[in-house]
Order: sequence, then structure tokens, then C-alpha cells
Amino acid sequence: ALSACLFDLDGVLVDTAKYHFLAWKQLANSLGFDFSQAQNEELKGISRVESLRKILAWGGLDLPQSRQEELAQLKNGWYVEMISNMDETELLPGSLSLLESLRAHHIGIALGSASKNAKLILARTGISSYFDVIVDGNMVSKSKPDPEVFIRGAALLQVPASGCIVFEDASAGIEAAQRAHMKTIGIGQSTDLPAADMVVPDLSKIDLDTLQRLCC
Ligand code: BG6
Ligand code: MG
Repeated sequence: ALSACLFDLDGVLVDTAKYHFLAWKQLANSLGFDFSQAQNEELKGISRVESLRKILAWGGLDLPQSRQEELAQLKNGWYVEMISNMDETELLPGSLSLLESLRAHHIGIALGSASKNAKLILARTGISSYFDVIVDGNMVSKSKPDPEVFIRGAALLQVPASGCIVFEDASAGIEAAQRAHMKTIGIGQSTDLPAADMVVPDLSKIDLDTLQRLCC
């Protein structure tokens, strides 16, 4: 039976995936190269340092650790500037009403995000109080596709993995949830998320019946 829903943040509840893309693109451009929208799919869900490592490899750059740290900070500065004026209008369609409905039915709600900026985003968009549990990039040592973030979430909620549904826009996140033995709902296009149990364009397409059927 359905016990809890675990949500990725960027690209699932809030429209921040576009800002990550813009900020990384700006960084790559400043280093003299570019990358595609298709390559960007590979950056979704993974940590800041791993994203940078991938991007530098695409540009054929091998930089010392200290320079990499500077670049990660530079990107994050731009990104934080982009998100610091966010408000609830940047919640994605269906986010708020699904959170409301889960809360009304006493279904556990957790955040499972790779982002170290997660709490800032929840606060700016006014949804912090919906979460029984928050697991973010400051709390995990292994990033998606490792299942740690979702296993931690279920443990803190004190629910079994079999009663959990994970919402994810990244294939790394779908893999993480499956390795945690949870059901998965992909947000986006099924061609980008072929492994998900089901895929919807956004959370407005989800109702409690659908969730309960997926979990039985
Ligand atoms: C994930 C995003 O949610 O968080 C990734 O999908 C991002 O694109 C990762 O790299 C880490 O985010 P932050 O905010 O800590 O740089
Ligand atoms: Mg995401």
C-alpha cells in the first residue's frame, strides 16, 4: 500500500532545471566550448562536482582540483543569483495540489534532492512546510544513481521501500529509486526516461487513485 511519496526537486516540483542548464552553459561558453540539450540530460540529478567533471570532459579540459572548485563556485554563484528572485509562480503545474492532497490523506512526503540549494528553493517557493522529511545534497555522500538519498528518506519517514513512490525528471534519479526498490514516476518525456514505471509531462496528471494503483 502507498505510504509515502519522495520528490526530486529541480525539474519536478520547481522549474529550476532550466537555470542549472543556463548557468552550466554560461560556464562552458566562458571556457570556450558549448554542449547540447541532449548532453544536458546527463547532468540532471547528479551532483554539482560530478556535473562539472562531465562538462570539462566534453570540452576536453583537464584542470587541477583547485581550479575545478573555483569553477563550481562560479557556476553556483550565477545559479543562486538566478533563483534568488524565485517565488511560488515557479512551482511546476500540479505541484501544490498534489502536495495538498497527499497531506490531506496522511501520506508521507519527503524531498530527495541532490541540490545543496534545496532549502532555499523550498523557502522561496513557499512549500517547505509540506515536507515531513528533507534529504538534500548536504546530507548524502553518494549522489544519484546511488540509492542513498531515497533510502535515507524512507528510513527517516519510517516506511518500507515497497510503499514508496519516487517522482523524478532525471534518468539518474529513476535508477536511484529502482535500486532502492521503489516505484517510479518520470516527469518529462518517456523517450528520456524509458525505465520509469510511468511517465507524465507534469504533476497535474497525477491523482491519488493512480498512485494507489501503482503501489499495490
Ligand atoms: C539536482 C539537479 O537536483 O541538483 C542537478 O538536477 C544539480 O542539475 C544538482 O547539479 C546539484 O545542485 P546544486 O544546487 O547543489 O548545485
Ligand atoms: Mg531533477
